[in-house]
Amino acid sequence: MRLRHFVIGLALLASSPVFAQPAPLHDLADDYLTPAFHAGRRDSLRQLMPANSVTVVLAFPTRNFSNDVDYVYHQNPDLYYFSGYKEPHSLMLIFKEPQTAANGSTFKEVLFVQKRNAQAEQWTGKRMGVEGAKEKLGLATVYNGEEFKNFAVDFSKFDKIIIDRLPTDVADARGDNADLYDLLKQLKEKAQIPDNYQQDKRFGTGLFRQYTGQLREIKTEEEVVLLRKAVEISCHGQAEVMKAVKPDMSEREVQGLHEYVHKKYGAEYVGYPSIVGAGNNGCVLHYTENEKLHVENKMVLMDVGAEYHGYTADVTRTVPANGKFTAEQKAIYEIVYEAQEAAFKLCKEGTSWQELDRVSRGVVADGLIKLGIITKKEDVNKYYPHGLGHHIGLDVHDRSASGTLKKGMVITIEPGIYIPENSPCDKKWWTIAVRIEDDLLIKEKDYELLSWAAPRKASDIEKTVAEKSPLDQFTLPKLQSGKKGF
Ligand code: GLY
Ligand code: MN
Repeated sequence: MRLRHFVIGLALLASSPVFAQPAPLHDLADDYLTPAFHAGRRDSLRQLMPANSVTVVLAFPTRNFSNDVDYVYHQNPDLYYFSGYKEPHSLMLIFKEPQTAANGSTFKEVLFVQKRNAQAEQWTGKRMGVEGAKEKLGLATVYNGEEFKNFAVDFSKFDKIIIDRLPTDVADARGDNADLYDLLKQLKEKAQIPDNYQQDKRFGTGLFRQYTGQLREIKTEEEVVLLRKAVEISCHGQAEVMKAVKPDMSEREVQGLHEYVHKKYGAEYVGYPSIVGAGNNGCVLHYTENEKLHVENKMVLMDVGAEYHGYTADVTRTVPANGKFTAEQKAIYEIVYEAQEAAFKLCKEGTSWQELDRVSRGVVADGLIKLGIITKKEDVNKYYPHGLGHHIGLDVHDRSASGTLKKGMVITIEPGIYIPENSPCDKKWWTIAVRIEDDLLIKEKDYELLSWAAPRKASDIEKTVAEKSPLDQFTLPKLQSGKKGF
């Protein structure tokens, strides 16, 4: 067979039903933030910085999980935002004005990275190193961390050194002279940072939060692409779990199903520990034990967000595990739904968070009074003890600086009602907990609902829970190892 025929034959085989592969669910390789994005963020920061200033951004510390083993590392979102660098033990300086090196060259920013080290890389993975950072991140001036000590920058000449609050619990790694502990120690010496630097006007810790909040609260198009994807993935997770959930499932199994769907779509992590609480457990706002062995015929509150290329969703749905809301559950659900709808109507450039909160909290208060659960409006916070929403982005509670919505912000709207056991109301309401949380991109005159793919109306949720799930067929062998082992 000639090559041409062979190739045609292969193509036919590949398209025949026996060999057909499902289309990939994600296009991981080509939708990372680009070096141009990070460069643009640094330039925007420079525009906000006062004359003759430098901004210092440190990596987050590594954290020990178990003997010889660290937690999965999470970069300081600010350092990632300005550099794209994801490794620990690193530091970036961003200058307002170009600086001149001893050899006459100029630079406007410098990144200190982990040095390549074959032995370390065999244990904890490939490092980018100086060359990798130059090539992949498009940075012109990059050094190994060990060069920071003698790096010729005279911090005393700057009018402002803009730093975030410094970490106070960084461990000194054995046998390393350029870990975060050393970088921090050298930074304190070089910039003569006193213990009370937060009160010292030369060090702008307030400015750091102000500037980074101002930038990070408005998402660029590249960021919106990633957020849209993180949110859609999370919503498909919610919808699939609604179909699969059964009263005999454990909270942890429900958590696992969400996270499996996220990974199937290529999301690397969850953006925060998944919250899956059945019945009374849903009343604990950040319940992450997820330890109930059977969710039973209760409502299950699922607050789970995929992190995709650094950007996290934050979506909550509350569903009856047996497919049908009771009259009491439905009554509470409808109040939360209406409170969310009332907030949605106001979501556009110019609305203040205060106004959003006032209107939606008013709906909850009126609803609870009507049901006889409270008698005075001001008691609403007893059953709705958190704020209406927040920004999302590289952090699940993302940096922000404004009290008013602006075009390009991505926020959550998440009213809730939580009635724990023994609350001072008719016991028929006890253990009911409902939160509905959606993610919105704010536009000039309205918003885009990023979390469209997760059923939200009570009737749609009931319909979805009644649907079949491929997971209904997923069975595993019964464990042979009982209390006494084999
Ligand atoms: N998803 C948790 C929170 O917003 O606090
Ligand atoms: Mn949230």
